[in-house]
Amino acid sequence: MTEPAVCPLPTTRTHPLKAPTGLADIAAAGARRVTFPNGVESWLFTRYADVRMMLSDRRFTAWKDGDGPEMRPDESVVGIDRPGNMIIRDGAEHLRLRRPLARAFVVKRIEAMRPRIQEIVDQHLDAMERAGAPADLMSALCLPVPSLVIAELLGVPDGHLDLFQRTAKAMFGLFNPASEYEELSVELGAVIHEEMERKRAAGDVGDLLGVLANDTESNLDVEELLNLAIGLLVAGHETTSNFMGLFALTLLENPEQLELLHQDVSRVDAVVEELLRFTITIGAGGLVRRATEDVQVGDVLVREGEWVAASMYANFDEAMCPRGAALDLGGEQVPHVAFGFGPHQCLGQHLARVELQIMVRSLFTRFPALKLAEPAADLPYRTDTLTYGPARVPVVW
Ligand code: HEM
Repeated sequence: MTEPAVCPLPTTRTHPLKAPTGLADIAAAGARRVTFPNGVESWLFTRYADVRMMLSDRRFTAWKDGDGPEMRPDESVVGIDRPGNMIIRDGAEHLRLRRPLARAFVVKRIEAMRPRIQEIVDQHLDAMERAGAPADLMSALCLPVPSLVIAELLGVPDGHLDLFQRTAKAMFGLFNPASEYEELSVELGAVIHEEMERKRAAGDVGDLLGVLANDTESNLDVEELLNLAIGLLVAGHETTSNFMGLFALTLLENPEQLELLHQDVSRVDAVVEELLRFTITIGAGGLVRRATEDVQVGDVLVREGEWVAASMYANFDEAMCPRGAALDLGGEQVPHVAFGFGPHQCLGQHLARVELQIMVRSLFTRFPALKLAEPAADLPYRTDTLTYGPARVPVVW
């Protein structure tokens, strides 16, 4: 049998709000072998059914030790094999780390935060309005709000927010030297450790750090607890910020779609779901796993040891969503895999939805005449972070 042809993972776009060119061709074939930017080969699956199967089948492991396909071009980055990093662990070990957080991340706790999230968003929009046009939406709204929300949910002690944000930034930057993160995480570790000791002694379970500190069932050690806490900030900060920035750009570049939101702002939940389906798909990589035995995925027999990546292009699969790559905020709501699928499905998805719904609704009702000050195609985009997003979004009103 001849080896399947390998192509580089498509990463270049004709427009910043479009998926990389080349993904559509791979999608037409369903799957293809690709080389990631760090030189590692993988299967890339683009069909919705294949992606869901791959992400939920236990014959694929999430384990990576710096040897898997990465958007990172080299190894001079923070290692992912940290104790407490649940995203690369499987089975019982994964559950041991995920369970205490899942218990704390219940919908009730997140829903109870709605008024506070609204307040944080309103404060930022007030400040933006006071300062006057033009404004950069990234620094005025999209970057500060998610980190403030997650820091409050966790219960990061007053006065340490800046350290918390710098640590997350050092961990997230694709080209940051590992040493920068190591230094900051030692400093932050001491702060979190002290805070957790205090919450343990007081039996305080009022926030996530308290819940984790008082968890006796999962046997988490201090390093695991620290990494879980930092991991949450990392997982919940830049993703939500980048998405909000891309949502704003997408709406402002598509006035006829924005008009649909203006006509009926009570549909904001459905609008956010369609924006999630559309926006995640324009990212380049995918969710990576490795076969622990031979597994048939759709038309492909994946061999033991081979890497596989679930492309978010699956959200454009017409078998699931007849409008495919077309954005339609007034269209029927369709399921998507923006938050993944299976045992690693996003733990913070409810929080992310609440934040995005509040930000979208509040921004566009407060500033109904909001416009981009520069076309989306001329703006800089950040490729030095794990999720794709705009470096700035200049607006006027
Ligand atoms: C728009 C925002 C977000 C998007 C698109 C997103 C997307 C995802 C995806 C696709 C995964 C699955 C990764 C995999 O299977 O390999 C994931 C996992 C995860 N997400 Fe999110 N996420 C977002 C926001 C958040 C927030 C706000 C939090 C928490 C504060 C969070 C916490 C997590 C955690 C802890 C995991 C790992 C779960 C596990 O391994 O069991 N995410 N996210």
